[in-house]
Amino acid sequence: MRQLLFLLLAASLVTPALAAVDIEKGKRLHDKQCVGCHVERYGGDGSQIYLRTDRIIRDRAALDQRVATCNAMTNAGLLPEDEQNIAAYLAQHYYKFK
Ligand code: HEC
Repeated sequence: MRQLLFLLLAASLVTPALAAVDIEKGKRLHDKQCVGCHVERYGGDGSQIYLRTDRIIRDRAALDQRVATCNAMTNAGLLPEDEQNIAAYLAQHYYKFK
């Protein structure tokens, strides 16, 4: 019984953190804060920066790192959870890591 209670408690602590990833919000923030500069450099809608064959990001950890770096570099002032939202959006729409 005690074990079951512990499992329920653990699940209730973990689930909200996972459910909190908001890909739509990630897209909105990304479109507002990140796309302009990528478009300037790569043209079109800027997505080529993520899809080019010599792209620098190869896994999710590197993507998280890069989003944090771009945030700091550009003083975008994103909160850690918004970095996560943006990274989740980019991973789902462009990188599609295996
Ligand atoms: C001031 C311009 C600028 C802004 C603003 C900017 N970036 Fe970038 N970003 C770059 C440049 C330049 C590169 C390419 C770096 C390279 O090729 O080494 C890049 C590359 C990236 C990459 C890696 C692409 C690859 O090769 O796989 C990611 C991911 C990325 N940016 C995310 C973001 C996010 C998220 C934001 C918004 C918080 C953002 N960037 C805002 C200039 C910018």
